[in-house]
Amino acid sequence: MSTSLNKKVESNLDTQPRDQFKSKLGFILASAGSAVGLGNIWRFPYLTGANGGGAFVMLYLLVLVVVGVSLLLVEFSIGRNGKANAIDSYAKISKNFKWVGYLGVFTAFIILSYYSVVGGWTIYYTLKSVTGLTAVPADQIGAFFGGFIGNPFLPLVFHAIFMFATIYIVAKGISGGIEKYNKILMPALFIMLFILVARALTLPGAAKGLNFYLNPDFSKITMGTLVAACGQVFFSLSIGLSGMVTYASYLSSEENLAQSAVTVAFTDTLVAFLAGLIIFPAAFAFGLEPGQGPGLVFITLPTVFAQMPMGALFSFLFFALLAIAALTSSISILEMPVSYFIEKLKFTRQKAAWAIGGISYVLGIAVSLSFGMWGDVKIFGKGIFDLFDYFSSNISLPLSGLACAIIVGFVWKKQDVLKEVSSNGKYSGGYLNAWYNLTKYVIPVILAVVFLSSIGILKF
Ligand code: TRP
Repeated sequence: MSTSLNKKVESNLDTQPRDQFKSKLGFILASAGSAVGLGNIWRFPYLTGANGGGAFVMLYLLVLVVVGVSLLLVEFSIGRNGKANAIDSYAKISKNFKWVGYLGVFTAFIILSYYSVVGGWTIYYTLKSVTGLTAVPADQIGAFFGGFIGNPFLPLVFHAIFMFATIYIVAKGISGGIEKYNKILMPALFIMLFILVARALTLPGAAKGLNFYLNPDFSKITMGTLVAACGQVFFSLSIGLSGMVTYASYLSSEENLAQSAVTVAFTDTLVAFLAGLIIFPAAFAFGLEPGQGPGLVFITLPTVFAQMPMGALFSFLFFALLAIAALTSSISILEMPVSYFIEKLKFTRQKAAWAIGGISYVLGIAVSLSFGMWGDVKIFGKGIFDLFDYFSSNISLPLSGLACAIIVGFVWKKQDVLKEVSSNGKYSGGYLNAWYNLTKYVIPVILAVVFLSSIGILKF
């Protein structure tokens, strides 16, 4: 590590004392809050639906266990070792890997732009729950949803509200509100999920949905399924953007990183799994098409709510909690570039949050219009939403994950890696060695294959 860089990092710390998470629970909740979001309840079910059901779920779990948990721990280690924005954290290990941080900053703009558009949809649905969403007849809910997202104006208002909330929280800093907020909201989300699972599973015709969701048909697995599963693991665990590097940089050196990574990954997977247990039985019970893409949750769930006693109330609670889960994720996406703008470009936190959020808002306008009047605009053969989503989840996140695995396996000295990850020997065990070897020898190969096939160089 170069001393000049060390000085630079330190002088940043002198002028702007860095915030820290106040407690271990605070960090776990914030990281779980980052991981649990639209990716679990919106993206996971629609990808599962579009990729053939159970086979996708199996592949997802496999990639999660082999690649996801390990890379989460990789990001935590790099971040806590760096104690700075992601770019400096990479530079502290090797100057040659600063680009991973820059790629993360760029990708954060892209993901935030469309995340906020969908976050806006959840706010609209929350309000609409009180004013008649459950009165829309089941066979018209698809048209209702399509009409809303295709509207050139209304979704932009809700996109603005969602982005504003994200900017507002990030502008206030790390500690304080978010930790407490998550403590109430995450359990509430779980309770709602369990109630809805019970309702969906007892619908007549639910079994067909369960069969689709849980019974893998391996003939449906293609290279495309693997690329999609891998992209979803990255998206859902919030890895590959250096967002978890950024969060862990605010963590004290005493915390057990491996345990945190497993807890976060488990929580995240449980929420995604439960979301599927609601959506598929419900979709099949009402004869809805599971492969319809991004509209799946917004079309299927309202039909379930319409059949429930006090459906409007449940609908309100569900979409409100989804909006909040989305918010605890979007703040982590925004925090990543914000920490860089503050520490390297000397922005104030306020200015950084507004500038980055503002630019993402404008990008998001194009995303929103791509569901309506710009529906025919194609770039590289994809619509704007699809392009942003594909670029981030299937190209940028896995590429950065590959780089992180290489850093830990081949660039950072093994003894230093293990020292950081074990909190200087405080938490040790054979599993850390196993993690190291997996990260060094197995993950790079898998990710290289996935990356090359997602950019079309490898064909199967
Ligand atoms: N994981 C979040 C979700 O599932 C989204 C998210 C937050 C994210 N931070 C990220 C995705 C960083 C990729 C990279 O909704």
